[in-house]
Amino acid sequence: MITKAVIPAAGLGTRFLPATKAQPKEMLPIIDTPTIQYVVQEAVDSGIEDILIISGKGKRAIEDHFDRNPELEARLENNDKDALFHEIRHLADMANIHYIRQKEILGLGDAIMYARFHTGNEPFAVLLGDTIIDSAIPVTQQLIDAYAQYRCSVVAVEEVPKDKVSRYGIVGGKKLSDLILNISQFIEKPSIEEAPSNLAIAGRYILTPDIFVALKNTSQGKNNEVQLTDALMLLTKRQDVMAAIIEGKRYDIGNKLDYLKTTVEYGLKRKEFSADFYDFLKEVIREYENKR
Ligand code: G1P
Repeated sequence: MITKAVIPAAGLGTRFLPATKAQPKEMLPIIDTPTIQYVVQEAVDSGIEDILIISGKGKRAIEDHFDRNPELEARLENNDKDALFHEIRHLADMANIHYIRQKEILGLGDAIMYARFHTGNEPFAVLLGDTIIDSAIPVTQQLIDAYAQYRCSVVAVEEVPKDKVSRYGIVGGKKLSDLILNISQFIEKPSIEEAPSNLAIAGRYILTPDIFVALKNTSQGKNNEVQLTDALMLLTKRQDVMAAIIEGKRYDIGNKLDYLKTTVEYGLKRKEFSADFYDFLKEVIREYENKR
């Protein structure tokens, strides 16, 4: 059983400046919901009960978001805003959320190291805060199912266009079935020439506790950071590591264009204004084309 998840959320969000100068990038909303809330929801929908958020300087807003706010709740209750009241009240009860601060920004691998006393001897899920995935079965659940079959670390992957491989961790390995590969190669942000495939790590992982030994033996890699991808490469030398091709649509909130695309698509999915928004987009495109 996998009951614990780790959400690294300590990064500086430099790709989103100036918006992230004084607020965490994980709090950037898609319409009205902070990105990290979608991520926590995915974990909860996958049966996770306990979440450790790796936090850091300037990330207090995340803690406040998943805490009670009695003053706001009373205001909503007194003003007959029942649905909103329940929605806001529920945020504090989604899961048992714990926090630990990464003291220095030394990379994703270093951030995961902070989880070792919390997850102990259990396998655990990792969900990166700048990726949300729309899928019939939550992707973390898809990985948990693969873990149940193979009993080893499992990494979610997705095919990306060749010209985007240098943005991601890329894997190479042997196909065991339509959706599962046994991985023999992990490379963080390779050039097109170096990349063993176009299968990119999609921001979701199930890790066995052995990852902490591998991380301990991993020195700084790409961008002078301790890379989780490098630790996973080390792990493949000692045990199987699988990749599961995800079934779902991934939205990369970490860059501005994809964030914009996500907002538009999620806007079109929202029943209360989907039709109006669709008409608006058609009108905007018509005007834009007329001007060209
Ligand atoms: C991180 C990982 C990378 C992965 C990516 C997915 O990179 O290091 O392997 O493919 O997330 O979003 P980052 O986007 O933090 O640079």
